[in-house]
Amino acid sequence: MAKIKWGILACGKIAKKFAADLQWVDDAELVAVASRDIANAKSFAEEFPAKHIFGSYQELVACKDVDVIYVASPHSHHHEHTLLCLNHGKAVLCEKAFAINLRQANEMVQLARSKHIFLMEALWTRFLPHYIKVRAMLAEGMIGEPKGVLANFGFKPNEPVSQRLYDPALGGGTLLDIGIYPVFLAQSLLGVPDKILATMDPSSTGVDEQCSMIFQYKNGVTATLFSTFESNLETDADIFGTKGRIRLTNRFYEPSATIQYYNGGVDTRSIVSLEREPGWGYQHEIRHVGECLKNGLTESPVHSLNDTLSLMQTLDRVREVIGLKYKQDSDFSS
Ligand SMILES: NC(=O)c1ccc[n+]([C@@H]2O[C@H](COP(=O)([O-])OP(=O)(O)OC[C@H]3O[C@@H](n4cnc5c(N)ncnc54)[C@H](OP(=O)(O)O)[C@@H]3O)[C@@H](O)[C@H]2O)c1
Repeated sequence: MAKIKWGILACGKIAKKFAADLQWVDDAELVAVASRDIANAKSFAEEFPAKHIFGSYQELVACKDVDVIYVASPHSHHHEHTLLCLNHGKAVLCEKAFAINLRQANEMVQLARSKHIFLMEALWTRFLPHYIKVRAMLAEGMIGEPKGVLANFGFKPNEPVSQRLYDPALGGGTLLDIGIYPVFLAQSLLGVPDKILATMDPSSTGVDEQCSMIFQYKNGVTATLFSTFESNLETDADIFGTKGRIRLTNRFYEPSATIQYYNGGVDTRSIVSLEREPGWGYQHEIRHVGECLKNGLTESPVHSLNDTLSLMQTLDRVREVIGLKYKQDSDFSS
């Protein structure tokens, strides 16, 4: 494989950022884009040229030129679209939230594993230099024994508000859309919580407009996490322990975050600076997928499918506590 040939399934907002970041990856090229509406695919391809422009997802998965497909539809459709790609032998990078629930995620993972086809959740934060640095700082013992995480993610959607955010049929609500980032941060640094306390404020459509979570661990460690569509919050995070604290500034989950380190004394701080690459930051996960494919891997060793299932299970547990159900929880045909 010289260059990895990418196809994009669904030409929405995130697909544009992803397509823009492909330019920062030397061994990747965009060869095909697909929309349910050919006019949308053509307009996308005017900005991000591709050899193949399709007016259906079926045509994309049948395209012999494509090595791997980036699934960028709403989370309600990740299960259907990932299965479609895998059943046509295509490797998949699937946006977060990976699925609506663990049942769907398990089906996606089982199909990929049974067919020995690469599948990964596009949890891009896992591949960002500042997040990797935080892991290294924890491993070096810079905060001592970890005691907790405080993280929030809040934004007030601009008009016109995307239907996806509030529509239960599209997996709307804060938890699966943005709450997943604080949950990922806590779980990836502290482990799977032993107990979850949570509450939500429902929107008029019944999905969570705000979600408050406390993850408790047997060793006295606690994560306090929050997501909202009601206000533009700082969207920052603290990871603290017996010897110090790491602060990730706005926005903690993306490359704009800086790392501040407090060594445990009164406000004694240093800033850990990392050089930032141009682009949105999706190039890091894109490069990783390319390396996996070139090495014949069917799972990422960095963000494994078991990591994805474990994250999905925790999201299910939170939803159970807050009483948020989607039709996919009872309708097993979707
Ligand atoms: N990693 C990140 O930083 C990040 C950021 C934002 C969003 N996301 C994730 O990416 C996914 C898409 O988010 P987005 O903000 O790009 O959404 P969006 O702008 O609404 O785009 C989603 C696209 O999915 C396609 N689609 C297929 N079936 C659909 C249906 N029944 N209803 C509506 N659209 C449908 C449409 O594309 P066509 O009409 O072209 O087929 C639509 O444009 C979500 O899962 C979200 O959580 C990730």
